[in-house]
Amino acid sequence: MTDLSTTYLGFPLRAPLVASPSPLTSSLADLLRLEAAGVGAVVLPSLFEEEIEAEATRLNDHVEAGSGVNPEGTEYFADFTFDHLLLDRHLELTEGAARRLDIPVIASLNGNTAGGWVHYARELVTAGAAAIELNMYDVALDPTRSAADVEEGYLELVRSVRAAVDVPLAVKISPYFSSLANMAARIVEAGADGLVLFNRFYQPDLDLETLDVKPTLNLSHAGEIRLPLRWIAILRPQLPQTSLALTSGVHLGTEIAKGLLAGADVVMATAELLRRGPERASELINELSVWMDDHGYQSVEQLKGSVTQHTSGDPAAFERSQYQRVLHSWKPEPSA
Ligand SMILES: Cc1cc2nc3c(=O)[nH]c(=O)nc-3n(C[C@H](O)[C@H](O)[C@H](O)COP(=O)(O)O)c2cc1C
Repeated sequence: MTDLSTTYLGFPLRAPLVASPSPLTSSLADLLRLEAAGVGAVVLPSLFEEEIEAEATRLNDHVEAGSGVNPEGTEYFADFTFDHLLLDRHLELTEGAARRLDIPVIASLNGNTAGGWVHYARELVTAGAAAIELNMYDVALDPTRSAADVEEGYLELVRSVRAAVDVPLAVKISPYFSSLANMAARIVEAGADGLVLFNRFYQPDLDLETLDVKPTLNLSHAGEIRLPLRWIAILRPQLPQTSLALTSGVHLGTEIAKGLLAGADVVMATAELLRRGPERASELINELSVWMDDHGYQSVEQLKGSVTQHTSGDPAAFERSQYQRVLHSWKPEPSA
């Protein structure tokens, strides 16, 4: 019998597949289906810094506009109460999921600056979140801010979330750092117990008729796994105590095997589960199990990290020789 258990952020999980944040993890019914399909953990959709701040501003405006109004007048707060449902809904989902699911429920916070809003991390934990995933989705636009300033801002954010909660903290990052290995190590130093590689950036398109910017969301496709796969392999030996999760481009059980071989503790999926439904998770786990059986692996622990850049002795030389090999491997397509 293949042992599919793994450990992520200190939690023993029954399987190395985790449902990453998406509309599929935003309803209790779907979370229960994901659990029934065998996922090891779920990550709820992100609570956004902007949403929290917008609500705080609206509350403030109401309170200020209301000074001088009869304090007994309860109808005054009626519309704010309606807006406030957004935050409440998030906390309710966290609370319901934590109560009904036996697997760890990880809450996600999205933001890029430290501030009062970070205290919502504590509220998510009070609502039952087993861990926090901090999703640092940000495009640095200010030409006066150097890379070092931007990075320091991220680290300050990690430190402040770390200080706000005492549950495990994972940080979901983008691949766009000049020295990703250095940044990853500093995020861990700032208090992260795990890294989630990588955030996918959604590129807006232009509508040629209206000349409007069109928000465009394309789900990931085969091949996108290679970027996180490569970095998991690079970071695994550098951060031996840190939990690593691979996200982006996982559509097959054999891709879960690739992530684990490279050194991930868990592999996350969204697009595949959105397209094919939560029950697809059990097929993915089964495909992984069959592949492990066929290749003589008895456990996920045995599989984890058995292929890393470490084995080549000199990661930098390995990187260069891979690059040369790829360029030299190109062959013209046979003409039709
Ligand atoms: C519709 C949609 C909503 C998403 N919402 C979130 C979110 O709230 N927070 C987050 O960290 N990632 C979010 N993601 C990103 C996914 O969690 C995942 O990292 C990404 O889709 C790459 O994985 P995949 O290739 O398996 O889809 C979302 C993705 C999609 C498609």
